[in-house]
Amino acid sequence: MSQNCTLIPGDGIGPEVARATVRAVEATGTDIKWQLAELNQNIILESGKTLPQHVLDSLNETRVGLKGPVTTPIAGGFQSVNVALRKTLDLFANVRPIRTLPGIKTRFEDVRIDMVIFRENTEDLYSGLEHEIIPDVVTSLKVITRTASERIANYAFQYARKNHRKKVVAIHKANIMKLADGLFLRCCREVAERYPEVEYKELIVDNASMQLVIRPETFDILLLPNLYGDIVSDLAAGLVGGLGIVPGANMGKTHAVFEAVHGSAPDIAGQGKANPTALMLSAVMLLTHIGENAAAAKLQQSIEAVYKEGKNVTGDVGGTASTEEFTDAVVKAVKG
Ligand code: NAI
Repeated sequence: MSQNCTLIPGDGIGPEVARATVRAVEATGTDIKWQLAELNQNIILESGKTLPQHVLDSLNETRVGLKGPVTTPIAGGFQSVNVALRKTLDLFANVRPIRTLPGIKTRFEDVRIDMVIFRENTEDLYSGLEHEIIPDVVTSLKVITRTASERIANYAFQYARKNHRKKVVAIHKANIMKLADGLFLRCCREVAERYPEVEYKELIVDNASMQLVIRPETFDILLLPNLYGDIVSDLAAGLVGGLGIVPGANMGKTHAVFEAVHGSAPDIAGQGKANPTALMLSAVMLLTHIGENAAAAKLQQSIEAVYKEGKNVTGDVGGTASTEEFTDAVVKAVKG
């Protein structure tokens, strides 16, 4: 049976990596009907809405999306469309697997990294509640609730149980933000008690950052509030070869939107240099989500085979291939 999915190419390198990913998914033979929902800076500015209605309508119909990055203006301009999407559809869990790919040279030659980040996706300092109290004095509200904290903790522990993961580490700054991060931590502890087979640990975010760089192989599942989750995701991406290869999923009760960790990469947009691996691996997560397990496994193995061979990888991971050459190699491996 064919499956409808919303395709949001986004802007910057988004359309390039989205095109590549659709080719790779189509090569698996999965019958997906893509509903194209354009979303970029121009559309947002023209419609005057951070989240234009056509995008919401499509996602409300399909309940599943594959999304490229969308540029957000810095220090002014419209609000982040990504944050708006996650809040509007209540995509509360941001899931980001960080795994060593074969053949990629990193600083950790003999180490196999295999961790999954669970980032709370709807609140914290991303509440967007900022005020200028008086000129030159600004406050930005960090919102932490029991509901959202318990929900992300439950999601992480359920994943651990289902996937036979051994350890969850909650990452916080509750020594300073005693109330906000204190509540997050309390919720994690309470949920952890219901999963006695999963080891539970806590780390202060600064120490966690150092430990991640020194001994990344000791991390299994990371459980974080929104802002630390965002920052630690990029740090962790750097451990395995960069943003070009790290996928992600925004999961809610009713909707799921799959997107890479990386942004719109304006520095390389339109040059055919972008690495589509991150969005392709996000598509692997999407295929698993819709029950296309064989296609998911095939695509994952094909991407890994291209990396193992090492001849057709992009510049960000030490190769010379273009986006298209890498995609050709993946498509060939899928079909081969
Ligand atoms: P970025 O992730 O776009 O780029 C950081 C660095 O990584 C750049 O040097 C870029 O060339 C490189 N890079 C990223 N993805 C790559 C890929 N697939 N292949 C090869 N190299 C890649 O982060 P930056 O520059 O801080 O943000 C640019 C814009 O993206 C901003 O407007 C930001 O708000 C937006 N953004 C959007 C996200 C989303 O839509 N989910 C997520 C993160 C940022």
